Amino acid sequence: MKKLLMAANWKMYKTVEEGVATARELVSLLGTLPQDREVLVCPPFTMMHSVCPILAGKAGCHSGAQNFYPAAQGAFTGEVAPEQLLDLGCTYALAGHSERRHVLGEMDELIGRKVAFGLEAGLKMILCIGETSVERRLGQIEEVLVRQLESGLAGVLSTATAENLAVAYEPVWAIGTGDVAGPDEILAAHALVRSKLESLLPSEGAQIRILYGGSVKPDNAAAIIRLDNVDGVLVGGASLKASSFSQIVLA
Ligand code: G3P
Repeated sequence: MKKLLMAANWKMYKTVEEGVATARELVSLLGTLPQDREVLVCPPFTMMHSVCPILAGKAGCHSGAQNFYPAAQGAFTGEVAPEQLLDLGCTYALAGHSERRHVLGEMDELIGRKVAFGLEAGLKMILCIGETSVERRLGQIEEVLVRQLESGLAGVLSTATAENLAVAYEPVWAIGTGDVAGPDEILAAHALVRSKLESLLPSEGAQIRILYGGSVKPDNAAAIIRLDNVDGVLVGGASLKASSFSQIVLA
């Protein structure tokens, strides 16, 4: 059975103390997770030592990284290596989040190297893709999503499986704005992603989980996860509070 991946991206928020308190409250509120759910929390690096063990103590809960550099070790000031994340108890990592693309200027090629290196190192990878409002207005959604999928998955066409790879569709215009994508917009984008995954990864594409991200809240999560080709969510703002994220997880 394909489990829904209900993921939290804490971005650059919380002190270590706040992160520990939120993680503790979350595992307490979740109770016994439904059989069809898997939970992932991606905290800032600064608090992984403390937060990952709390999550690991809860069946069905995982820790992930928001980013890493695709090298085993070396002179990459300010960066973190996959091995160091695995040492901290991380099992997942994001690559290509729109803030890394559009705020920090990460290019498709580097994102593709991260996906490949992360899988090789033993991380489960979530490739984040999504169009901007300008690209949507110009009718470039398919061109953008196909380009991001092709470049992001170029190095894993023979190694990616439904177990070690997921894709998060996060329309940039819906992130942090409260302007959640409508059902038709989600259905169309996820169908496009599914079709491209099936052509890039014939044996695995149908099973690879596609998450939706962008203003997911407790009052819209249930409707979103019921949509075809939606296999989970990636939540930013609403995941910072254990009470709201637990409602989303259990929606
Ligand atoms: O990675 C998830 C994030 O980008 C979505 O943010 O605040 O719209 O849920 P938010």
